[in-house]
Amino acid sequence: MESTRNRLIHLLNENEGYQSGQDLSEKLSISRTAVWKHMKELEKDGYQIEAVQRKGYRIVSSPDKISENTLQWGLKTEWMAKQMHHFEEVTSTQDVAHQLAKQGKPHGTVVIADQQLKGKGRMERPWDSPKGKGIWMSVLLRPKLLPIQAPQLTLLAATVLAEVIEQQTGLKPQIKWPNDILLEHKKMAGILTEMQAEQDQIQYVVLGMGLNVNQKLEDIPEALRHKATSLLVETDEEWGIQEMIQAILTQFEKTYDRFIEEGFQHIKQTWENYGYKIGEEVEISTLRKSWKATLLGIEPDGALRAKDQDGKEEKLYSAEIHWGEGGYHA
Ligand code: BTN
Repeated sequence: MESTRNRLIHLLNENEGYQSGQDLSEKLSISRTAVWKHMKELEKDGYQIEAVQRKGYRIVSSPDKISENTLQWGLKTEWMAKQMHHFEEVTSTQDVAHQLAKQGKPHGTVVIADQQLKGKGRMERPWDSPKGKGIWMSVLLRPKLLPIQAPQLTLLAATVLAEVIEQQTGLKPQIKWPNDILLEHKKMAGILTEMQAEQDQIQYVVLGMGLNVNQKLEDIPEALRHKATSLLVETDEEWGIQEMIQAILTQFEKTYDRFIEEGFQHIKQTWENYGYKIGEEVEISTLRKSWKATLLGIEPDGALRAKDQDGKEEKLYSAEIHWGEGGYHA
């Protein structure tokens, strides 16, 4: 159920002119004092509101500043982000999402921060998350899946990010197995999936997504510049973080629902369409051997399928792949 605040924003946006306090109080079934209090709260969120005697209220401008309200405003999802927790600063949105999961928060709860002080990447790597420059977000999922299916959610999220980046910016990103989003061989987004599970049942999954949006080249730490990029660096344009978040949440819900209904096949297809070096030859070294292989695609369990020079196919899980040009290697 939409909150009173959201309904109020809705009503004010529906109408170009003023809305009287009386009208709003009737439509929302709250007192006029309560309407006034909500207006004050909206102002704290950065809305500019004009109040004129005998005419009423109108929104003059909406905030650039991200808040739970502004993020939810206009978001037309069924279950995704019905609970949204926005912070200016956190250690990691993953940690907050785990706490919320343990408190029993529902499937689709979203945690977003303007800045992370200890953003986490895969393999215990740090994830640089400067203030207001990107999307640092974790989604709590409670899927009725087996623990071995969890990697499918990571691959699903990678396709969502790739599709949204393409739809919004026209860029053509690639997904490097298992789930880095690259542009011109440089990483612009990553996904971290953490799961709490029993032997045959997932309790919950915290799916973290990090997308570099408005970092200028000089905002990217020097040591990463040869292998990391942002939407701004690639397009020379600033991008609206809120719109981008909403697009991700909407696309995520759509893709997830389809995945639950129809299974993994369409994710596999989309993933392979965006797949980095799929169909190309790379050098692979495992503990046992080193060999040249052509990458073929992904498997339902998240493995990478490759073919050696004799045409023998293998499933790779944690092989060391030498990705070659561009110097990107993570
Ligand atoms: C990777 O590519 O290594 C994964 C990066 C994941 C970063 C995101 S940002 C939001 C969420 N919170 C974190 O601390 N990490 C993930």
